[in-house]
Amino acid sequence: MNVHRIGPTTLRLEHRALTVADAEFFFRLNSHPDVMRFTGEPPLGSVDEARDALAHYPDFEEHGYGRWGCVLRETGALIGFCGLKRLTDLGEVDIGYRFLPEFWGRGLATEACSACLGFGFDTLGLERIIALVMPGNAASVRVLEKCSMRPDGEIEYCGTRALRFVAEPGDLAGPV
Ligand SMILES: CC(C)(COP(=O)(O)OP(=O)(O)OC[C@H]1O[C@@H](n2cnc3c(N)ncnc32)[C@H](O)[C@@H]1OP(=O)(O)O)[C@@H](O)C(=O)NCCC(=O)NCCS
Repeated sequence: MNVHRIGPTTLRLEHRALTVADAEFFFRLNSHPDVMRFTGEPPLGSVDEARDALAHYPDFEEHGYGRWGCVLRETGALIGFCGLKRLTDLGEVDIGYRFLPEFWGRGLATEACSACLGFGFDTLGLERIIALVMPGNAASVRVLEKCSMRPDGEIEYCGTRALRFVAEPGDLAGPV
């Protein structure tokens, strides 16, 4: 199995696996109430908790891919994450993303999501990628629409009602 610690590069972003050295950024992102509002997850409580989460993130070793940190190429700074997660309980691969609020509204999530979908199909050979979104998360729904993902009903997942979107190879809009 190839382990893809480096994800796609776009006009403005690079994608790479996060390490424990990124704990401060990971805490800042995952403790922000505006970021966590529609994730269904509790916010991280400390940098130590963030370090622990990063130290015990098995996806790359287990599946060869995961959620990548998004690095703004212009500055070299981490500004969010985006990537793919195998949901073994559903037998699906899910795309997910979060960005620091000061970077919202510039098309960066769309750029990242579109590139990670392309990586999933073209490099990993996936045949289907889903996204699960809480119904009130209009910005995230818009990102998925802009990435040409199709609405595919609703499911109950981890105790939360979610809209399901789906993409298959060939669904994607042009390169970003
Ligand atoms: C969802 C999120 C990643 C979007 O990031 P972003 O970089 O701002 O996204 P983009 O700029 O690529 O696109 C956002 C789109 O949503 C639209 N939008 C933003 N807020 C909106 C709202 N409240 N209602 C409707 N549309 C909204 C924007 O106008 C834009 O669409 P447009 O290009 O047609 O104008 C970001 O808000 C985030 O990190 N949220 C917290 C984490 C999260 O909820 N992740 C998703 C879990 S499923």
